Amino acid sequence: MSSFAFIGGTGMEAFAGLTIVREHALETPFGAISQPVMEGQLAGRTVFFLHRHGGDRAIPPHLINYRANIWALQQLGVATVVGVNAVGGIAPEMRPGRLLIPDQLIDYTWGREHSFDDGSSGALLHIDFTEPYDRDLRLALLEAADRARIPHEATGVLGVTQGPRLETAAEIQRMARDGCDTVGMTGMPEAALAREAGLAYAAVCMVVNPAAGLGDLPLTLDNMRRILAQESAVVQELLLALVTDA
Ligand code: HPA
Repeated sequence: MSSFAFIGGTGMEAFAGLTIVREHALETPFGAISQPVMEGQLAGRTVFFLHRHGGDRAIPPHLINYRANIWALQQLGVATVVGVNAVGGIAPEMRPGRLLIPDQLIDYTWGREHSFDDGSSGALLHIDFTEPYDRDLRLALLEAADRARIPHEATGVLGVTQGPRLETAAEIQRMARDGCDTVGMTGMPEAALAREAGLAYAAVCMVVNPAAGLGDLPLTLDNMRRILAQESAVVQELLLALVTDA
C-alpha cells in the first residue's frame, strides 16, 4: 500500500512516535513548502509528516502555501493524507477536548490560492466535492478510533474562516445557522487541493475552545495550547491505530 502523510497544525508540530529517516526539502512550481517534509517509519510503514505552519517561521493560516504542500506530498508518492486541525466548538457537543472526524465543510476563506488550475491546461477542472472528505479514509479513521477506544464525534461540519483573527460572536451565530459545528482556519483549500491532486484526504479536528461568544474564557493561544497538548497526544494514538491496521 502506498504511503500516508499527516499534516499537523497548531499543537501538533511533530509526530512523537515517528522515527525520522529523511527530510525532503522539495522545490515546487508553486513556491516554498511550509518546511521540509519529514519521512519516517511508524509501525513498520513509511509515513510522511508536514507541519503546515512551518518551523520557527510560524506561517499564519492565510499565508500557508497549501498548493506547494499538497504538490510536494504527491511528488513523494503519498496517496493518503490526514490533515489535523485545531478548531473552536460551535455545536454544544463540540466541547474543548472533543475530537471530530468531520464529514462536511463550509468554506468561508477568500483570497487563497485554492486551485492547481491556472487556466493553462486547456481542460476545465471541476472536481466533485459533494463529499469533501474521502469516504474510505474517513471510515478507516472511525474504525481506528473505535478500536483504540478513542471518544470522538463521527460526523460534523467544519466551517473554515480566513483568519488570522478569530471570529466575532455574530459571525459564529451566523455559522451556527449555516450548520457549522466547528470553526477552524486551515481546512481549506487543503482538502480541495488534495482532491484535485487525486489524494485521499480526511481531517481530524481537535476542539480547543468554545467559539467566540460561546465560552467564558478569553480566546487566547495560551488557553488553547493547554488543551492542545493532551488532544494532540490522543490524535497521534488515533493515527498510529490507523496506520497499524491499514
Ligand atoms: N476559530 C477559528 N479557528 C480556531 C478556533 C476558533 O475559535 N480555535 C482554534 N482554531
